[in-house]
Amino acid sequence: MNRRLFEHIRHQFRLDLHGIHGIAHWSRVQYFGLKIAKEENARPDVVKLFALLHDSQRVSDKYDPEHGNRAVAFAHEIRGELFDLDNHGFDLLCEALAEHSNGLTEADVTVQTCWDADRVDLGRIGVYPNTKFLCTSTAKDPAFIHRAWAMTRYADKPLNNFVINP
Ligand SMILES: [Fe+2]
Repeated sequence: MNRRLFEHIRHQFRLDLHGIHGIAHWSRVQYFGLKIAKEENARPDVVKLFALLHDSQRVSDKYDPEHGNRAVAFAHEIRGELFDLDNHGFDLLCEALAEHSNGLTEADVTVQTCWDADRVDLGRIGVYPNTKFLCTSTAKDPAFIHRAWAMTRYADKPLNNFVINP
């Protein structure tokens, strides 16, 4: 991920950047996603893009069923200009974006990793992650869920290790 991409997404974001779908959330989705990706042999490049893009087109912090599809359209618009990804990786990214809030669990492991990274970051709204909605054995591990809960329960700042390359 690069600084230009991050800045572009940040500037067009319609909601509160410090809200429940803002930068702190993006940073933890990246963190959890890279941890899961390492264990599951998923693609970290796709996971990093998912973390930045998946909630980028929200128009509400509440029910917003089309935000995944809008994120797909946005990804098409900026691909090649603000990020590069091979066709297979882009297909995975688009599937992960389109379906991330639809409760599915069956998909390619990279897509599953993206979904799990988002679904374990629920402590910020006081919800303990439920294994029923998780896909990978890494994310379903009770110790992993507990660590995620502990990290997210009172978290409101982006993680220090949020990776944005200049
Ligand atoms: Fe999210």
